Amino acid sequence: MQERLSEIKNQAKDDLAKAGSIEEVETIKTRYLGRKGGVINEIIKAIPSLPSEQRSSTGKSANILKNEIGRWIEEKKGGFDTSAEASLTLPSFDVSQPGEHKPYGHKHPLTQTIDEIKGIFKKLCFDIEYGPEVEHEYYNFDALNIPADHPSREDFDTFYLGNKRLLRSQTSTVQIRVMEKKKPPIRMIAPGKVFRPDTVDARHASMFHQIEGLMVDEGVSFSDLKYVLTLFAQSYFGQDIKMRFRPSFFPFTEPSAEIDISCSLCKGKGCSVCSQSGWVEVLGAGMVDPNVFNAVGYDPEKYTGFAFGMGVERLTMLKYGIDNIRLFFENDLRFLSQF
Ligand code: PHE
Repeated sequence: MQERLSEIKNQAKDDLAKAGSIEEVETIKTRYLGRKGGVINEIIKAIPSLPSEQRSSTGKSANILKNEIGRWIEEKKGGFDTSAEASLTLPSFDVSQPGEHKPYGHKHPLTQTIDEIKGIFKKLCFDIEYGPEVEHEYYNFDALNIPADHPSREDFDTFYLGNKRLLRSQTSTVQIRVMEKKKPPIRMIAPGKVFRPDTVDARHASMFHQIEGLMVDEGVSFSDLKYVLTLFAQSYFGQDIKMRFRPSFFPFTEPSAEIDISCSLCKGKGCSVCSQSGWVEVLGAGMVDPNVFNAVGYDPEKYTGFAFGMGVERLTMLKYGIDNIRLFFENDLRFLSQF
């Protein structure tokens, strides 16, 4: 009799597995658990005719199997439950829950500086220009009056790519590209990345950003340069900023100057950022060398102009009191989220 019960169990399992609708499950229920003619009931009815030692164990097993099949049938029915109530409650969504917080991103501090400086020069009617980061030696050196034996051309100052191509080491390349395309008057700034194989430390990175400036017209003088740069420094750092023009040398400007601003961190008293001097160099500038005008076909007797180049990282570090350039490139949100 136990064998018969385990046959029934397997058969019921198979039948239920094959059932494809609630109706089929109901038919199976009647077949196995029905009062009249149900397979299990037939067994129970036959118990009195069994040898006495088998009666109680068969009764127990039959009841266990009855309950088991009953449970399987209910489970199987649950899988077909498509009533309106079921479809309403299944994907639960609690409208009273607070919304998921998605933090807003924002522009990188260097991009913010570039945008701010673009805004300052736009007010002075300067155009915004861009040039390629992979450059030809001609634009990075030759056209800028940089002689063949100039140290900035050495391998350890420039990333060469072969075939006279290089990663530009300065944005002055854009001066040439713009003057080749346009006739004076020219007023432009050119923001962008530059590359130098410097050893990375707190103030140097092998890639950094510059903003180039160029103004060319008849009668542009050094006092225009001084005026524009003073206006820029006061707009960017504040009215009480002090500037210092130091004589310097660049092959593409004559005369040339390096421009320092009073250290905004220590207010000129001396600190680690300004090497205790109270001044920080932020700009190179000068009057465009006549040889540069010759290279682009401008008449140096007719036109004069000034050019300048400034370091974006340095300007940002000074404004916010950042003492390590590497912080800009590490993507650490603890740093970036402060801007
Ligand atoms: N190109 C120079 C540099 O990278 C800066 C500069 C630009 C100087 C324009 C004078 C005029 O150091």
